[in-house]
Amino acid sequence: MNLAGALVLVTGGASGLGLAMAESLQQAEAIPIILDRDREMLDTVTTRLGCPGFAVDLTDSVAVDAVVAAVCEKHGTPLGLVNNAGILRSAPLLSLGNAENPRHSLELWNEVLAANLTSVFLVTRAVADRMARRRVRGVIVSMSSVSAKGNAGQTAYSAAKAGVEAMTRVWAKELGPLGLRFVAVAPGYVDTPSTRAAVPEDILENLRRETALRRLCKPESIAATVIFALQNDMITGTTLSVDGGLVM
Ligand SMILES: NC(=O)c1ccc[n+]([C@@H]2O[C@H](COP(=O)([O-])OP(=O)(O)OC[C@H]3O[C@@H](n4cnc5c(N)ncnc54)[C@H](O)[C@@H]3O)[C@@H](O)[C@H]2O)c1
Repeated sequence: MNLAGALVLVTGGASGLGLAMAESLQQAEAIPIILDRDREMLDTVTTRLGCPGFAVDLTDSVAVDAVVAAVCEKHGTPLGLVNNAGILRSAPLLSLGNAENPRHSLELWNEVLAANLTSVFLVTRAVADRMARRRVRGVIVSMSSVSAKGNAGQTAYSAAKAGVEAMTRVWAKELGPLGLRFVAVAPGYVDTPSTRAAVPEDILENLRRETALRRLCKPESIAATVIFALQNDMITGTTLSVDGGLVM
């Protein structure tokens, strides 16, 4: 894909990795359009970047169809989509010493699956439909994680990210003949405020030690991989790991 002038939807682009992606897309002369449920952060970021933004909860199927219709009506069919929005929540399957919560709750499972897996299904369904009908040879990049390989303490998150990688392969097979491409990107631990809020410093230090390059990923490295996936016309149905050698 030639990024100059290309419309690229970035979900969860109001903060963290999605914001770094929106900035990199602008540097590559593409036009990012941000979808995020946090209206305040969205307003701040879209004003600063001077790009379009839409406030929406991406786990709501009716709202997703409506926002994709509104984007297409106002700006045209996007050439790219980055499914980046997600949440990180951790819990073990069993906490036998915890009398109050001895088992992973169904509520947490449903919340994590909705935010990290169902949202990707809903947004991709809506956007790929538009691309296919308009004969747009679009590209859809979805954020996975090293957790897709199975991180202890992350039943729901790991299941969701493994699901994202599987859907990427399914859609590449189904829609490749129409020229659509699908790529997953699996970061290791990225040095962002949300990572620091979710993971205690001593655990981050251990992760640094377990990483071949002995450092956390930078948001720019993930954004550069997303740009590469959008641009390279022969990559589809695969997951690009960007983890400094944490999982080999
Ligand atoms: N940060 C990391 O270390 C890391 C590592 C591996 C994978 N990832 C993945 O990268 C993506 C971005 O992570 P991040 O660290 O930048 O997260 P973040 O929390 O900083 O940003 C996520 C953004 O998504 C938005 N969002 C969440 N749920 C939403 C919903 N239902 N509807 C609309 N918007 C929603 C939030 O408002 C937020 O702006 C996620 O998919 C995450 O799983 C992150």
